[in-house]
Amino acid sequence: MTPAVEAKGARIPLVGLGTWDLRGRTCARVVEQALRLGYRHIDTAEMYDNEREVGEGFRASGLPRNEVFVATKIWPSHFAPRELLRAAKDCLVRLRMSEVDLLLLHWPNPQVPLSETLGALCQAKEGGLTRHIGVSNFNTALLDEATALSTEPLICNQFEMHPFLDQSKLAAACRAKGMAVVAYAPIARGSAKNDAVLARIGQEHGKTAAQVCLRYLVQQDVVVIPRTSKIERLEENFSIFDFTLTDAEMAEIASLARRSGRIVDWSFSGPPKWD
Ligand SMILES: NC(=O)c1ccc[n+]([C@@H]2O[C@H](COP(=O)([O-])OP(=O)(O)OC[C@H]3O[C@@H](n4cnc5c(N)ncnc54)[C@H](OP(=O)(O)O)[C@@H]3O)[C@@H](O)[C@H]2O)c1
Repeated sequence: MTPAVEAKGARIPLVGLGTWDLRGRTCARVVEQALRLGYRHIDTAEMYDNEREVGEGFRASGLPRNEVFVATKIWPSHFAPRELLRAAKDCLVRLRMSEVDLLLLHWPNPQVPLSETLGALCQAKEGGLTRHIGVSNFNTALLDEATALSTEPLICNQFEMHPFLDQSKLAAACRAKGMAVVAYAPIARGSAKNDAVLARIGQEHGKTAAQVCLRYLVQQDVVVIPRTSKIERLEENFSIFDFTLTDAEMAEIASLARRSGRIVDWSFSGPPKWD
């Protein structure tokens, strides 16, 4: 059984495969191979335009459906209640699955009242379209609002997190609500491999800088969803459970955070336009 975190009755495998920007045959092949190597969690989104290939890769793996945790996300232009339910059903059609394990709101959308969107998200769960629901890119104020409004448990918040960005306050806010933290861009879009501190610590453990970066997060019970298009890196990104970072190493890695550490820009007032 792959290591996992528990949150509000959900069990989320600690390492998942990110699939943003993976397309076509590459996507299906990488998903299949990841599952053959032991991954049990795949992260996609309607916006990634690859749910069909994620479904194909899953079926090619031959694994039973209940052994793989599949998460997808609804894009903010579909947050009006009827739209959201239609969009969730469309995700399932593309994936060729009868339900997903986790359905997330991809970004906040100030144009649609959160109460309405969450009402529809809860309905998606109650109607059997998804086993669990959650949010992504929510700040602490929005998390407070969302948890107060939702009639179903929100199991996680997915947001950018890696050693170069201090997200300790947001992570603590999630934990205080019993929600899991899911880190996207967990290897800082690949730049972790060039960091001298991560590389040096890696040498001590016989690991790469990317593995140290991922280990730093999972050692805090943060779920990571690194993406790679390269089969050989799938194994590298998954082999992070056979070593432990010392407290001093954890502190040194935490000190790599800098003000300009954010990679994904969400300072805009609304989500990027996409229909
Ligand atoms: N909720 C949201 O708004 C949101 C936003 C962004 C991302 N996400 C999710 O999070 C996932 C991960 O984030 P991300 O894709 O932005 O970034 P990431 O996983 O931090 O980095 C991916 C990049 O790192 C490279 N890479 C992967 N493994 C490596 C290794 N072991 N050593 C060196 N380089 C390596 C990959 O290149 P190769 O392909 O060449 O290996 C790719 O260019 C996404 O795929 C998506 O599923 C969600």
